[in-house]
Amino acid sequence: MAKTLYVRSGSEEHELAVTDGTIRASDLRRISTDAGPLATYDPGLLNTASCRSSITYIDGDAGILEYRGYPIEQLAEKSTYLEVAYLLLKGELPNAAQLATWENEVNHHRLVHENAKDIITKSRYDSHPMGKLMSAVASLHAFYPSSRNITDACERELNMVRLLAKMPTLAAFAYRHSLGRNYVYPSDELGFVENFLSMLFKRQERHFIADERLVRAIDVLFILHADHEQNCSTNAVRAVASAGNDPYTSAVAGIAALFGPLHGGANEAVLKMLSEIGSVDRVPEFIEGVKAGQAKLMGFGHRVYKNYDPRARIIKKSADEVFEVTGVNPRLAIAQELERIALNDEYFVSRKLYPNVDFYSGLIYEALKFPPAMFTVMFAVPRTAGWVAQWQEGVLDPEQKITRPKQIYTGLRGRDYAALDAR
Ligand code: ACO
Repeated sequence: MAKTLYVRSGSEEHELAVTDGTIRASDLRRISTDAGPLATYDPGLLNTASCRSSITYIDGDAGILEYRGYPIEQLAEKSTYLEVAYLLLKGELPNAAQLATWENEVNHHRLVHENAKDIITKSRYDSHPMGKLMSAVASLHAFYPSSRNITDACERELNMVRLLAKMPTLAAFAYRHSLGRNYVYPSDELGFVENFLSMLFKRQERHFIADERLVRAIDVLFILHADHEQNCSTNAVRAVASAGNDPYTSAVAGIAALFGPLHGGANEAVLKMLSEIGSVDRVPEFIEGVKAGQAKLMGFGHRVYKNYDPRARIIKKSADEVFEVTGVNPRLAIAQELERIALNDEYFVSRKLYPNVDFYSGLIYEALKFPPAMFTVMFAVPRTAGWVAQWQEGVLDPEQKITRPKQIYTGLRGRDYAALDAR
């Protein structure tokens, strides 16, 4: 049922149409104020819809996450990351022939230009792998200049596939560069996840054989991280894309946003926190510190999920599967104790703070012997599917415009420039 919002401003009455639970912010401009036409003030875009999207649905209160209408629980149980990437991009699950073609296409594009590889090689050995990844991805449009032609459907498709395919290769090169190891090139014999593990971990063996349980656990982790509607990094991708940018340039914004400790960097921060706590008996003291505002309980809380993060439940199961192969991460006991206390503590309960996906992902990555700096890279690789799907949706949306928010100006006005010696 159509709704109308009635606004009385002084002697004037205004009717604002409410559609899809929103009012058009531009309709507010009809209402004048002392400071000019009425606008909304929304730092962090807490209550502002910036686009229409048919990719990912989240109901934070009910703990629901769906990709193109499919519940995350079903996809995590039955699907694969590449199938989910297809679903996100094209809107439907592929049939067998479409899936085979898609897997071939993605796998065909896994190699990167040698000069893109050199960008990683020329980085400082101890620089953060997210920085290396950002630089290498930023260079890709130079190797594929026609990717700038974003109105051409074939170019869009080709370059989205290229980015999806090359991210694991660049991520693995960034990792091996930090260790001073040779780069392992992609292998045509291996599937997406197995090949990624091979590029990361292969030593001198002729054929790299990954444990099937690990392959499946990483596949599930990748499905869980593939998209998450208008989160910080996706919003960054869309904002950069709104200026008419190619998928590579836009994805750099996503990687940069994801790097932050409040976003994808949280899994790295969780591990730092667990190692600082050090032992189970120090957990109560740490929790008291959090409640006193001295620290945050990293891996807890979410802007959208205020009941539970459905990905956290699935990831806990994956963690158990990984620990079967690697042995239990000794920090697991600290994490479990933190969770146990926090879930029963008024401070966390009243603020609806629950474990998010990053609370356990770091433990898995550590068990796989990744240094903490690699954890966010392990997030960026699968999130590429969401970034390219959201990039394309934004590019094709006739309602989208170049992103350009308003501000409330709080500075001085109309000052006269003073010469240097008169200041
Ligand atoms: N530890 C302790 N207190 C917290 C935490 C936390 N992790 N998260 C929120 N709070 C408190 C805040 O201090 C605030 O308390 P107050 O009302 O007394 O001031 C209240 O809970 C509400 O928090 P906000 O900051 O308003 O929540 P917001 O939605 O803006 O932030 C965020 C969400 C950034 C995820 C936050 O919960 C946080 O910083 N968590 C830790 C970092 C983290 O795990 N990030 C990963 C998010 S998932 C992802 O990106 C994949």
